Amino acid sequence: MITWSPELATGVPEVDHDHLVLIDNLNRLETALKERAGAEHINGMVAFLERYAQQHFAREESCMNRLNCPTAAANKAAHAKFIQTCAEARKKLESPDAAAGLAFKIHTDLCAWIREHILKIDMGLRQCAKSQ
Ligand SMILES: [Fe+2]
Repeated sequence: MITWSPELATGVPEVDHDHLVLIDNLNRLETALKERAGAEHINGMVAFLERYAQQHFAREESCMNRLNCPTAAANKAAHAKFIQTCAEARKKLESPDAAAGLAFKIHTDLCAWIREHILKIDMGLRQCAKSQ
């Protein structure tokens, strides 16, 4: 589970709201995995996360551009890479011979990625938001 803490706050309300939604849905996915929910249900949750992440990335990128954020280019590149990684993970997950435990591994990787990404790259927004 990812627990929200003030260190994850960028200070931009729309971005922080999106991050909360992403974290909440990652935690819901973890619960569903632990409860051994059906593949259709899990795949639906993963598809939602993927779609929401893409919408969030677009909102966050335009926010960084608007604020002339120094991490804007690195953020855009990290998002593009993440979308690619996500699509590959979904393909593996949907494959009929997906290994047991793969979904947990993907979930753990997603949680680690989002936490690190917020702390290292999205945090560039904190200074820009303050100076606005
Ligand atoms: Fe980001």
